[in-house]
Amino acid sequence: MAKIGNIDVGGFPLLLAPMEDVSDPPFRALCKEQGADVVYTEFISSEGLIRDAAKSVMKLDIYEKERPVGIQIFGANLESMLQSVEIVEKSGPDIIDINFGCPVKKVVSKGAGAGILKDIPLMVSLTEAMVKHTKLPITVKTRLGWDQDSIKIVEVAERLQDVGASAISIHGRTRVQMYKGDANWAPIAEVKNNPRMHIPIFGNGDVDTPERAMEMRDKFGLDGAMIGRASIGYPWFFKEVKHYFRTGEHLPPPTMEERLDAARRHLQMAIDWKGEKLGVFETRRHYTNYFKGIPHFKEYRQKMVTSDDAADVFAAFDEVEKEFSGYEFV
Ligand SMILES: Cc1cc2nc3c(=O)[nH]c(=O)nc-3n(C[C@H](O)[C@H](O)[C@H](O)COP(=O)(O)O)c2cc1C
Repeated sequence: MAKIGNIDVGGFPLLLAPMEDVSDPPFRALCKEQGADVVYTEFISSEGLIRDAAKSVMKLDIYEKERPVGIQIFGANLESMLQSVEIVEKSGPDIIDINFGCPVKKVVSKGAGAGILKDIPLMVSLTEAMVKHTKLPITVKTRLGWDQDSIKIVEVAERLQDVGASAISIHGRTRVQMYKGDANWAPIAEVKNNPRMHIPIFGNGDVDTPERAMEMRDKFGLDGAMIGRASIGYPWFFKEVKHYFRTGEHLPPPTMEERLDAARRHLQMAIDWKGEKLGVFETRRHYTNYFKGIPHFKEYRQKMVTSDDAADVFAAFDEVEKEFSGYEFV
């Protein structure tokens, strides 16, 4: 059984990764329904939060049904991070996660996200200060290191644990790799195998089949899997992994009806939460996967991803239902 602070998250939990413009309340709700054990918000800028920037503040919305839920923040300035902890606490999350892994230039150039991998003492002192500033468990999400020559994740993880981090999720790539190459899980297993470690170590990067999730558990011995891209437009992934763990069998893929139901609800929840314009826009990236594999689908997908009007997207779903009802996915 893995525990994040006092929160029991089960044996080999599956965590929905924080993903910008993806891990929002509607999508988190769908993933939760399909078996995600812990969900995280997308990253939220500490500088945005303390300026009360509307975009950052809206990302703090969380709902009872998605617990346990972690709110992820990023930044490199101690004062801003501590003030953000206070702001975040008011939303009542179960966990606060620190992003020490984002490789994007605009984040890294300010020393935040993966930028902090160049300043491990700051990474540790920020974590320590945040742990002391709240009663909520603080978790850390990071990468293996800045580059291949500076992978010190075993030592870094120990130090984070020593200052009170409650769990660490490690993406098996360096900052320099961005998203290229394959994720390397061996150094994550080294962290886990360090006899001094006792907090959960979650593996992340390229878990895209139930078999890979099982490998992370059985071959690499990690405490849980954090899942990102495999869930985009495919919240069923969590259920499929759990079914495979239980039975060794693959679930049949979701039916057209299930996919349409998810797409419709996703869009409606997104509109309810952030209004029609943004709701329509930000749900687009999911449609490719919701309807993956259907031949001659381009025309329908085109309507879904180019229309600014929710009614047109719903009409496209209706057309798909009429045209492809009963389509058998493989
Ligand atoms: C669209 C997108 C947005 C992301 N945004 C964040 C983020 O806000 N915070 C974060 O820690 N990682 C973010 N990531 C990284 C993921 O959490 C994860 O570490 C990475 O995708 C590797 O896992 P995967 O192979 O399961 O996708 C993002 C990834 C993607 C694809």
